[in-house]
Amino acid sequence: MFTYHKTCRACGNTDLKTVFDFGKPMPLANAFSTPDGPQKGFVPIAVLFCEKCTLAQLGTVVDPAVLYENYCYETSKSETMRQHFVALWEAIKAQGNADSVIEVGSNDGDMLQFACENGADHVCGIDAAENLASKAIRNGVPTVIGILDDNTAKCASRVVPKADVIVARHVFCHANDWKKFICNLDAMANKDTLVAIEVPYAVDTLERCEWDQIYHEHTSYLSIRAMDALLEETNFRIQKVIRFPVHGGSIVIFLRWKYHECPPDASVAEFLKSERITLRTWELFEAKALWRMDKLKYELMALIREGKRVVGYGASAKSTVWISACGFTRKQITFIVDNTPHKQGKCSPGTDIPIVPESELTNAKADVAICFAWNFMREIEEKNMEWVKGGGRFINPHAL
Ligand code: TMP
Ligand code: ZN
Repeated sequence: MFTYHKTCRACGNTDLKTVFDFGKPMPLANAFSTPDGPQKGFVPIAVLFCEKCTLAQLGTVVDPAVLYENYCYETSKSETMRQHFVALWEAIKAQGNADSVIEVGSNDGDMLQFACENGADHVCGIDAAENLASKAIRNGVPTVIGILDDNTAKCASRVVPKADVIVARHVFCHANDWKKFICNLDAMANKDTLVAIEVPYAVDTLERCEWDQIYHEHTSYLSIRAMDALLEETNFRIQKVIRFPVHGGSIVIFLRWKYHECPPDASVAEFLKSERITLRTWELFEAKALWRMDKLKYELMALIREGKRVVGYGASAKSTVWISACGFTRKQITFIVDNTPHKQGKCSPGTDIPIVPESELTNAKADVAICFAWNFMREIEEKNMEWVKGGGRFINPHAL
């Protein structure tokens, strides 16, 4: 089900240092179980740091067939994401032609649909989750089912030959073999293709101590230095880097063919110069993370002693990490509300905490909701204003 990973996937260094360890096997963050069905496996999780290129990566890699079979993660249909699509699409179009687009990890086709509504003529997605890819196809987005490999790259290229743009949003840091990933992008590209890779930015993860981003799907925590090291032996170079606020702080890295006439944007040198990630940064991160877990545990104990009904808001992968790391059960968190239909009726991975529709927040008279979808906090607070006015309280678990 999993293998051990010991060599830096960006620069090949074999002397990796352990910098973060949950100290126990953790459930797969999106493996929602039915109340009486079997639990999926638990896999150890530790972060290893490469001092040569500053890439942090997990010491275990779960077989993608296990991780993405009946994958539950559906891109959130939120106003926050909509606004992000607008900003990202503008940034892509500012770089040149964007008539034809291939998206790797296209999920349910939301982004490609948006691209079509905003000027793209030919699009094709590639996604390993059969349930989500089928949904995209039903919605009119051509989608190749499978992870990015030689075969799916060929299939997508037949639908959209030599795409103007290849987008890979929050999928690159899920991949294990980066050399192959880049080779497959290369196979779908031509000399003018713009590649847009969006990932959570390691600097944001570290500065904001977003330790709940550490789960099996996120095999790497990417810095621009690590990306630069990886690209050394490929046909690509970094063209531009843009920071976006989504998912707790992300970067979009634009890649271009190494010999493209357009010179790299000044942002590339600025990012390379400003990044200061060391072993010490990760050590401090671990200490802060443990402190945050303790604070939520104490807060919850105090609330329960006061007789409050505490629930979770958003059955995000991050919620699985918090709940499992803190050892919460339905004794502490009565249920988690989530608007994703196929999460409802299931349990949070590794626990007995049920997932229910958002309406239960008021129906079941919750007093306090821990917002595990803290990246959508403002939007969630706004839409539950009535509940807050009636005495309900949201807690951002990172801001206690
Ligand atoms: P994510 O941060 O990994 O996208 O997960 C967010 C989860 O929160 C996802 O399961 C959908 C859920 N959610 C709601 O239930 N209501 C909302 O208003 C929003 C924005 C998200
Ligand atoms: Zn390295």
